[in-house]
Amino acid sequence: MPGRIPQNFIDELLSRTDIVEVINRRVPLKKAGRDYQACCPFHDEKTPSFTVSPTKQFYHCFGCGAHGSAIGFLMDYERLSFPEAIEELAALQGLEIPREIAFDQGPDHRPLYDMLEQVTEFYRRQLQEHPQATRAQAYLEQRGLNAEIAADFRLGFAPPGWDNVLKRFGGNDSARRTLIETGLINQQDGKTYDRLRDRIIFPIRDSRGRVIGFGGRILGDGKPKYLNSPETPVFHKGRELYGLYEARQAYRQPEQILVVEGYMDVVALAQFDIRNAVATLGTATTTDHLEKLFRATDQVVFCFDGDRAGRAAAWKALQTALPLMKEGRQARFLFLPEGEDPDTLVRKIGSQAFAEEIRQAQPLSEFLFARLESETDTGSIDGRARLADRARTILAELPKGTFRQMMEQALEQRVGLAVGLPVAPTQEPRPAARRSTSKGPSSMPPVRRAVALLLQYPEIADTALPEGWQEITLPGMDVLRDLHRRISESDGTSSAALVEGTGDERLRGHLAQLAVAELAVQEDAIEQFQGILKRLIQQQKIAERNSLLKNEPPSSMSEEDKRRLRELYRRR
Ligand code: UTP
Ligand code: MN
Repeated sequence: MPGRIPQNFIDELLSRTDIVEVINRRVPLKKAGRDYQACCPFHDEKTPSFTVSPTKQFYHCFGCGAHGSAIGFLMDYERLSFPEAIEELAALQGLEIPREIAFDQGPDHRPLYDMLEQVTEFYRRQLQEHPQATRAQAYLEQRGLNAEIAADFRLGFAPPGWDNVLKRFGGNDSARRTLIETGLINQQDGKTYDRLRDRIIFPIRDSRGRVIGFGGRILGDGKPKYLNSPETPVFHKGRELYGLYEARQAYRQPEQILVVEGYMDVVALAQFDIRNAVATLGTATTTDHLEKLFRATDQVVFCFDGDRAGRAAAWKALQTALPLMKEGRQARFLFLPEGEDPDTLVRKIGSQAFAEEIRQAQPLSEFLFARLESETDTGSIDGRARLADRARTILAELPKGTFRQMMEQALEQRVGLAVGLPVAPTQEPRPAARRSTSKGPSSMPPVRRAVALLLQYPEIADTALPEGWQEITLPGMDVLRDLHRRISESDGTSSAALVEGTGDERLRGHLAQLAVAELAVQEDAIEQFQGILKRLIQQQKIAERNSLLKNEPPSSMSEEDKRRLRELYRRR
């Protein structure tokens, strides 16, 4: 039978907890005299009758009668069980729940937790002591991990061999059954053997810090790269997040949490002092995951590959997140350069630039609209109506509230339609003038357009041009630089003189054309020219960044290249 939670632990927990803080993070409160107020989250109302008393540490709603302590609030608001609410508050306070308490209402899992703990220690010691530990250590070192971070995450080494764990921990039938239940031992055709062999071990901890499963990485190349614990009575991949316990140890109430893909990403970021990353365990992000995350923080930042698969995964995560986007919560999306993951990127660009990338991550709203707009032709009324339809269906997933209203307004603006009104797209007349498809002046490639502008408005050369334009290496830039030099060296030359002064005959022909090309300039030639150069400089930087990033793994990248890369990330 599960034991009871001792009253004195509950007392201690409640005395440390501030109910105002707990509620305010979920339902923004306003001070009213000695108490705090809000519209009641448990029933619909327009004027606030929900009151929180800091002196009594109680909440009460005069409208619907709901009332209780911080524990009761979490149970009702987050739909947690009593033990879960206790766990949540304990995690918030960094309090260890007394070990002897059996928490789970179901069968007693203590033997599993004990076994997992012992084996974790065993693996950890093997990383120091096993005759082959040097191989494992060398692998970790080659991945750039130091001993301190390995200790923080309790990394270990499952030595080669079929029965290391079995021999040491499977002394009798009952122990062997426990080992099988934890997934540490496989049973096949009447044979039993260690599941994890010759691998680096990543212990996975639950929100109380108990080890519930393992990930094991092969040392080097080979398949499968990672082998994880199977689903067990204490380990559910759809609910657990690698690194969440460690993140909450580091920050208690992290301002934001990053969701990354791999164990190595979590550990590498932590080594770079970005200790708020968690990883799903080889599965997509689930509603359970997000509920857990939003209990620990207000802001979740998803990190994905910038490639197609990454964008598809991000879109899925967005859809899972929508129903959870209550007031005050935020979700953002960070797309990494192709071929990089957080582990490799942070090692190449350092924590400062990485933190800056996180700051610039795309808000959910932007990602959503950008994605929808990229799928429809917003230049036509049909397209805009389709976009509005799709967006409306998606926005309906959001919980009612200010965020949803803001999103609906944003949609209205973007689409130019009242969202609430029915639209009959097929009855709209087709617009006579669709977006021009002819090669108009604005469709000229940027470098050529810059050359044309400079030819037709040589006075541009007298203005201060954006720093770095001399280094742009795109084709045609040498022509532009040559023109610029010739104008600067003369005093007051004309378009015609510039064309005629060009030695190369073919080039002269091109320039003659550009000198008379229609440019649709309205007194803003200088601004346009500067704008083009700025965009080209930006493109040049991204291209250089990507080629520096792609060249090699972080460990073999030269210090000079890393320095250059960091500079490129800094000067944005
Ligand atoms: P990745 O293949 O992206 O590996 O898997 P990684 O995290 O970059 O690993 P390193 O850097 O090569 O060491 C991402 C995650 O997918 C799961 C693991 O959880 C892994 O961390 N995965 C991957 C598996 O479960 N099994 C596999 O064979 C591969
Ligand atoms: Mn990786």
